[in-house]
Amino acid sequence: MLKVTYLGHSCVAATDGEHNIIIDPFITNNPQAPIGADDIEVDYVLLTHGHGDHLGDAIPIAKKNDATIIAPFELAVYVAKLGAEVHHMHIGGAYNFPFGRVKLTIAHHGSAAGEELAYTGNPCGFLITMGGKTLYHPGDTGLFYDMKLIGDMNSIDLAFLPIGDNFTMGVDDAVKAVEFLQPQKVVPMHYKTFPVIDVEPTEFSDKLKASPTEVIIIEPGESLEA
Ligand code: NI
Ligand code: MN
Repeated sequence: MLKVTYLGHSCVAATDGEHNIIIDPFITNNPQAPIGADDIEVDYVLLTHGHGDHLGDAIPIAKKNDATIIAPFELAVYVAKLGAEVHHMHIGGAYNFPFGRVKLTIAHHGSAAGEELAYTGNPCGFLITMGGKTLYHPGDTGLFYDMKLIGDMNSIDLAFLPIGDNFTMGVDDAVKAVEFLQPQKVVPMHYKTFPVIDVEPTEFSDKLKASPTEVIIIEPGESLEA
């Protein structure tokens, strides 16, 4: 069993009933966030990159919960300096955690943290196997052809894909990503948070009507089972 809760923007919480993780916990300054950062109880925090709308409340959440932050090496070093417990990884590598397996995938994007734009290495995506299901969270990225390889090598039960355009894939590229990844279910993310990414998710679902992949549009705070 894998239950996933969308917390707006790119923030996704997941539980197998025993372990709790959260990806890119942008809560405090996120107008979509349905809960406060203090309400979050997790064992691990996964970060795709250092941008403020992904790093978000990761450090206070990790400290409050005695949770470990899983991140690409340079970003892990950055958050460790700010007092968080970390597990460093890098792209192409996978590791078996108590909650499941995490593999880092490429992402075509930037990664820098804070107003000083501190160097935090390459951004990543996550392939997570938890509760017997495989979840793909690509972080912020443009479309890339290796998504076909990811789809060929993994049976993805649930994928979250950015559709907001401007900073990431827009609708048409996300539709192509679904074709490459062939997930059972896909949930659009990274839209409407800011005026510049004000994209209608129904554009995405309309274009996938004939696809074998089920498109699920969920509001922040809503959950689904993979
Ligand atoms: Ni970003
Ligand atoms: Mn972003």
